[in-house]
Amino acid sequence: MKTIVSGIQPSGRLTLGNYLGAIKNFVNIQENMEYDAFFVFIADLHAITVPKEPLLLRQSVRKLAALYLACGLNPEKVTLFIQSEVHEHAELGYLLQTISYIGELERMTQYKDKKIKQVDGVSSALLTYPVLMAGDILLYNASYVPVGQDQKQHLELTKILADRFNYRFGETFITPEPLITKIGAKIMSLQDPTKKMSKSDPLEKASIYLDDNEAAIRKKIASAITDSDGKIKFDPINKPGISNLLSIMSCCANKPIEELEKAYDGKGYGVFKQAVADSIVSLLVPIQEKYEAILNNKELLDKILDDGAIKASYFAKKNLNKVKKRMGLLRK
Ligand code: AMP
Ligand code: TRP
Repeated sequence: MKTIVSGIQPSGRLTLGNYLGAIKNFVNIQENMEYDAFFVFIADLHAITVPKEPLLLRQSVRKLAALYLACGLNPEKVTLFIQSEVHEHAELGYLLQTISYIGELERMTQYKDKKIKQVDGVSSALLTYPVLMAGDILLYNASYVPVGQDQKQHLELTKILADRFNYRFGETFITPEPLITKIGAKIMSLQDPTKKMSKSDPLEKASIYLDDNEAAIRKKIASAITDSDGKIKFDPINKPGISNLLSIMSCCANKPIEELEKAYDGKGYGVFKQAVADSIVSLLVPIQEKYEAILNNKELLDKILDDGAIKASYFAKKNLNKVKKRMGLLRK
């Protein structure tokens, strides 16, 4: 049985980084890979590890569901659901906490980054976040997990926890592997190309949001930080800004970077930036049109999410029971 699992947090507006690093990859897998089951969920339990306004959270969950569909995920091929509607996620997350060490969680880069941003104290759920994520994956016995580069460390922890569980309680989990695209796995900030483009960046013009209109996209690309040597070459160390724009255009236009380097050789940054913006606009405008239509079709969206939760629960329950039995829980 080959199962694929991934999720995205419904927090804030999604960026082009989320699309190119994750969602585009989901659609590619859906169309081109062989698998027995593919689960894509909305990681709302992860989103609340930092304070969230309930009303906004509820809206963000629906918006992410609509976006998954607008980007091309097909509910006949992929099981789409909301994490908190399959309660086995929280339960396996707890069980796996019993075999996770505080030290290994405190070493997680994302925890260290997020911890310093918390003004009202750091929730214990922020620390155990990667264990919940391991639970999301192991609950379905996934073989593959498509994610962006920033989730690699969490995947490594997932593998460690799977192996530790198997060692202690007997062979139960498959050790999952991340699926990370070559280009697009780490889209950088437009204002500081040494930093990843992030939906939590307070600087609006650092990110292209998936709901940005054409004018905003053009303006943000025009003001993206580059360098002064005028050459359009892929060199992430010395030319991080231009390299980032080349990666973006390569992914949006589905053209190899070398082809773009040749096509824009000697053309200057102005012309190149305009072409980058064109490629983003051609990609995002059709998605935005579909998105609006789906978001307004409340019944359809609810039906897809209800069906998804039922299907995911069926697999989750079966696997969770197996895990509990292995641990000495459950009488029957
Ligand atoms: P998050 O925004 O943390 O919920 O991330 C959702 C997915 O998008 C994960 O698979 C991330 O690895 C991916 N992702 C987030 N930001 C970027 C980025 N700047 N470049 C590529 N992938 C990203
Ligand atoms: N932690 C991931 C992120 O922030 C989201 C996520 C939660 C996830 N559970 C997952 C991704 C399981 C893949 C598999 O991007």
